[in-house]
Amino acid sequence: MNLDNADKIEELDPQGMVEDLDTFPDQCREAVSIGEEIKIPFELNEFDSALVTGMGGSAIVGDLLSRLLDFPVGTNRGYHLPATAGTEDLLIAVSYSGNTEETLSALKDGQRRGMKSLCLSTGGKMENYCVRESIPLVKIPTGHQPRASTGYMLFPLLKLFDEAGLAGTIDFTKLLENLEGMANSWNSSVPTESNEPKKLAEGFTGKVPIIYGTKGNTRVVAYRWKTQINENAKQPAFWNVFPELNHNETVGYQLEGELMENGKVVMLKNDLDLGRNELRMEIMEEIFRDEGIDYGLARAPAGDKFSKVIGQIYFGDYFSVYLALLNEVDPSPVKLIENFKSRLKKRG
Ligand code: PA5
Repeated sequence: MNLDNADKIEELDPQGMVEDLDTFPDQCREAVSIGEEIKIPFELNEFDSALVTGMGGSAIVGDLLSRLLDFPVGTNRGYHLPATAGTEDLLIAVSYSGNTEETLSALKDGQRRGMKSLCLSTGGKMENYCVRESIPLVKIPTGHQPRASTGYMLFPLLKLFDEAGLAGTIDFTKLLENLEGMANSWNSSVPTESNEPKKLAEGFTGKVPIIYGTKGNTRVVAYRWKTQINENAKQPAFWNVFPELNHNETVGYQLEGELMENGKVVMLKNDLDLGRNELRMEIMEEIFRDEGIDYGLARAPAGDKFSKVIGQIYFGDYFSVYLALLNEVDPSPVKLIENFKSRLKKRG
């Protein structure tokens, strides 16, 4: 598969995942306007923290807010909220479809605890519940895969927290301009020789990616890359973070033989790491070279924290979709997730 063959890309991607990526900056711009219209019957700064509840492509929004805001944000993935969640926290339930059972259950858990909530969805059961319970709902456009709607789910909330003075200083104009620049460099019409995500994907053909980030910085990026590779490229991928991985996973590289033949590590860098974690990555590079482990580095685009983190997520989204095309699979459908959900439903 040649990533510069536009006809072949169109054939493999009938639902337009590549198009969704190419237009991501427009999606983010539209999402900022959605954020400007949000009306909530409470002040954000009356809460000690926010807890985002969601699953999969919707839950990542919680991890991103936690990385980007100057306000404590937790992410909950499951049927119940943690024991510590209470009325001093704002509950934000995010579900692209509005029908995810774990998210609906956690939202109800919050209502039982008397928590104030805000929901974000395209509609579904979540919308009906919001109407019944008078919970404010941020409604976003339908018709995309949840994981291709990160702009729609993230930017309205970023705008809301920014308006409340809880996001540091976000220069939305500059951020959108930077994202445009990235789209211009990484989109499918840019030939492989000058297209970084295409080049990285080619280096990972037939490999099992192992993505390393750092606690408090690129953790969200590493996890997003892993899940995007799973869902778009339909293949296994693994992730971990420094410094924890130096206390266990590192030893796994000692084994000689064929087990790691298809594994390839990529370490994420963005110049915002602690000096000690930078040093840990340098030492790991030495160990990889000594042990003959295939590895690479991926650097975030230039800019402030927002451009670096969202930009590196965007890069990973392109990387995973190019990997899908190299695997000759359609990046959009998630047949096994649908299959799993329908089996679960049948069991009652
Ligand atoms: O990417 C996906 O399709 C999944 O990870 C979904 O986001 C996940 O199943 C949750 O669904 P929803 O985002 O509709 O709540």
